[in-house]
Amino acid sequence: MKAKIRKQKQQPCMVVLKLCIIFAILPLNQSLSFNYTQALSKSLLYFESQRSGRLPHHQRVTWRHHSALTDGLEQGVDLVGGYYDAGDNVKFGFPMAFTITMLSWAVIEYGGDIATAGEYDHAVEAIKWGTDYFIKAHTQPNELWVEVGDGDTDHYCWQRPEDMTTSRRAYKVDEQNPGSDVAGETAAAMAAASIVFRKQNPRYSKLLLHHAKQLFEFGDKFRGKYDNSIEIVRGYYPSVSGFMDELLWAALWLYKATDMEVYLKYVLENGHPFGGITWAITEFSWDVKYAGVQVIASMLREEKHKKENRLALEQYRSKAEYYLCACLNKNNDTNVHRTPGGLLYIRQWNNMQYVSTTSFLLTIYSDYLHSTNQTLKCDRAILTPQEIFAFAKSQADYILGSNPMAMSYLVGHGLNFPQRVHHRGASIESYKENKGFIGCTEGFDNWFARPDPNPNVVVGALVGGPDENDQFRDQRSNFQQTEACTYNTAAVVGVLAKLHRLYSHQSHDSPLIVSN
Ligand SMILES: *[C@@H]1O[C@H](CO)[C@@H](O)[C@H](O)[C@H]1NC(C)=O
Ligand SMILES: *[C@@H]1O[C@H](CO)[C@@H](O)[C@H](O)[C@H]1NC(C)=O
Ligand SMILES: *[C@@H]1O[C@H](CO)[C@@H](O)[C@H](O)[C@H]1NC(C)=O
Repeated sequence: MKAKIRKQKQQPCMVVLKLCIIFAILPLNQSLSFNYTQALSKSLLYFESQRSGRLPHHQRVTWRHHSALTDGLEQGVDLVGGYYDAGDNVKFGFPMAFTITMLSWAVIEYGGDIATAGEYDHAVEAIKWGTDYFIKAHTQPNELWVEVGDGDTDHYCWQRPEDMTTSRRAYKVDEQNPGSDVAGETAAAMAAASIVFRKQNPRYSKLLLHHAKQLFEFGDKFRGKYDNSIEIVRGYYPSVSGFMDELLWAALWLYKATDMEVYLKYVLENGHPFGGITWAITEFSWDVKYAGVQVIASMLREEKHKKENRLALEQYRSKAEYYLCACLNKNNDTNVHRTPGGLLYIRQWNNMQYVSTTSFLLTIYSDYLHSTNQTLKCDRAILTPQEIFAFAKSQADYILGSNPMAMSYLVGHGLNFPQRVHHRGASIESYKENKGFIGCTEGFDNWFARPDPNPNVVVGALVGGPDENDQFRDQRSNFQQTEACTYNTAAVVGVLAKLHRLYSHQSHDSPLIVSN
């Protein structure tokens, strides 16, 4: 066993050596290129490994099996389906909804590119697996089930989802127990998905829009943070930024989906009281949506709006560009920290989520500037759309292996990727191979504690990633770095789709050299 481990550890060194040679003979502004088409395919495959419920016949991730088939039963509601959020087996509605919003946004912007990679149906299926669940979970106009299982009891065990013996109690928000943040994010997800399904499945699209409108109204009318109503979620996915960002975000997606003035008016009138045009933040995440709101609002500027609307949108633009300039390290005062290897660095635990969301916003905005013949004016530079996208590409390339560890943080891609992903299902022998029950502590003793690589590869999972010095410890217990989340990967799909469009014609027999 020891020899095996040693052999694996040699691989990265060899790759590092190769990289060093390549870097040594290249001017600095050139970089490696990857097979982005393949990375895109893998990123979409990941969502199948996170599926909860009854799996379809065409399920491609075959180490998974049906699980959690009685979710909601205790409460008399059918909550079978949806996604496990990360390496555990809880269904957290708040980050799940953000995942679906981001996936839908990727398809709205880059659906054509996803289609030329042959991945359109997979992308749409990944979205529908989420929206089908949200439809079930939205049981009354003012009632939404937002969590099944809980972090405390779930984390006490290390079990495959197929074996789960932990609590599957479901939690909801309603008029007495409001949750404007989770209602708003779910409304945003369903509104965004309704745009995806508009042509292909108009009835489904209308249904999603109907739910989205009701959920937005519910969230707006009965205001409150969901973690005040459901205390058990506090240790895992608390709504730290409150609900005002989600209400703006939901209204904006509803405006995009319906073109109805009333939603735009909401975003413009509440820009100030809700912090949309006052907050300048340097992160965009499942919790904090301000930067996303600001970027979308900025891109509405050129449309047919009345003069006073354009003025209000201009205020959103100024905050959006402050955020983007911070990520590009071009503000005078606040910028986002970078690792010596060039990775955006926000915080220690699951830093990659911020890298992928930021890269996506930069990619979207650079396309917008390009299509409107504009540049980004920061304190310290005026940047062209090409320069902005080059930075987004540098982050994607870092993810795929252009980094000091020569490690692909997208699992299953390239030669060297994390082998001990903090993931219950992946780290235990597949249910298909061993249908015997694996108990709560048995999982910890026999599988979690093993030094060996995981028996199943969670292909396409984007793990938490390296620390602020580009260092990464591939250990199952190191959840801050080796756990992957659905919203990490969802945000990188669009970036990979655009990279696929730009680079798929090139050959990858030897690492490719691309000038920016
Ligand atoms: C884009 O802007 C530049 C500089 O403002 C101008 O010279 C050029 O003609 C514009 N191109 C188009 C297509 O509008
Ligand atoms: C940023 O700093 C530069 C150099 O100190 C200065 O010339 C410029 O005016 C500053 N810009 C802003 C917007 O403060
Ligand atoms: C990239 O990977 C895909 C899928 O494996 C493959 O079909 C394609 O030929 C590869 N592209 C290049 C340019 O090598």
